[in-house]
Amino acid sequence: MRHEFPEGFLWGAATAAYQIEGAVDQDGRAPANWDVFARLPGRTRNGESGMVACDHYNRYREDVALMKQIGLKAYRFSIAWPRVLPEGSGTVNERGLDFYNRLVDELLENGIKPVATCFHWDMPYSLEKKHNGWTSRDLADVFAEYCGLLAERLGDRVKMWATINEPEVVLHAGHKAGVHAPGLKLGPQEYRQASHHLLLAHGKALQAMRDSGPSDLRIGIVHNSASVSPLTESEEDISAARQEFYRRNAWIVEPLLKGTYPQELWKEEEPDVPEVRDGDLELIGAPIDFFGINVYFSGLCVSKRYGAREYEEWFPRTQMTWPITPDALYWTVRFNSELFRDCDMYITENGCACPDQVKDINGEAVVEDYARVQFLREYLKGVHRATEEGLPLRGYFVWSLMDNFEWAGGYKYRFGIVHVNYETLERTLKESGKYYSRIIANNGF
Ligand code: FCB
Repeated sequence: MRHEFPEGFLWGAATAAYQIEGAVDQDGRAPANWDVFARLPGRTRNGESGMVACDHYNRYREDVALMKQIGLKAYRFSIAWPRVLPEGSGTVNERGLDFYNRLVDELLENGIKPVATCFHWDMPYSLEKKHNGWTSRDLADVFAEYCGLLAERLGDRVKMWATINEPEVVLHAGHKAGVHAPGLKLGPQEYRQASHHLLLAHGKALQAMRDSGPSDLRIGIVHNSASVSPLTESEEDISAARQEFYRRNAWIVEPLLKGTYPQELWKEEEPDVPEVRDGDLELIGAPIDFFGINVYFSGLCVSKRYGAREYEEWFPRTQMTWPITPDALYWTVRFNSELFRDCDMYITENGCACPDQVKDINGEAVVEDYARVQFLREYLKGVHRATEEGLPLRGYFVWSLMDNFEWAGGYKYRFGIVHVNYETLERTLKESGKYYSRIIANNGF
């Protein structure tokens, strides 16, 4: 069966500044929270950091040429706060900002739509330290100033924006488990309070961007969905899965898409609930233009008969040990629109890690990542089903354009459709990159 996608479906690839740019000392960039975090003993694999990464900062032209070769319609990247505002706020570092001017111009000259994320986890270290991460309400205002500046200075050319990448991961990994910067382990009430501040930061940023950018910006946020799939497609199983999906996502998604906190969950967590001031929820729930969803797998498989079971028990896994559950994208988009809001959605990240290696085949460098080809093909069937059923899913971004620094996991986990040799920094288009390229050219497979 041929899978045909709607006209104008946005095919892209995603990256994040700290994971690819390197060049940490160049052009007035301030030390980032992750520079410091990675130096603490035992926090990242072998103490690896983004110090050099893919050196994208100096090789962006070559990387945009690769994007063009693949045929990408859009490129999702993030902006490094420590380059643009080394002190977090106040004086603009023009040399740092200029990198994004050049990148955006290069993308546009090559017919690729820039999609920018303001905060994909790196911020000036001094700022994070001063505020003790998102435990501080004031950080929301500082963030809004930064985002307003980006909209003002880049909004003439960058029309699609996400304020924050994955609030839930910033919170859980950074403020509860302590495995990401700032490495905090907050108690339950402080945790919910930090969560509220981060959502408020989004709300304030949204307003600042609308105020200082041009009127045609499309602004949203990116959520890593805790996905849940039904075991069968019986009405009972679907409704059991939907309920579980709600419980796992509502603390973040309900305020963003409906402007309310989930009543039932709120009662269950009392007294460990956040202090919410007048007007906060109006800001947080102000209309966004799209909702970005990052999905790698369904964590739970639910049925009326068996209840909720960890998917890991039943399914093969990728190098990250994440289970391969191709129906995750479909159910996530569907439950999201049924439970929260039927707004435009994009899969802003999806992909898999494999231990890829470059082979010399008759003098040609080849990466035979057929497991990723298979992964993409199966997952994209779910994307296709969502569009066929008329769900408002408008695009798909593969994670990632190229292999990169996988946070605490260091350089072991290769997610790219382009291979990066970390010694020579040479790039090689993988077989999955060629496959993706054909999907884009045919708008289907
Ligand atoms: C997501 C992050 C992204 C990358 C992928 C594998 O949670 O947004 O930066 O690390 O996971």
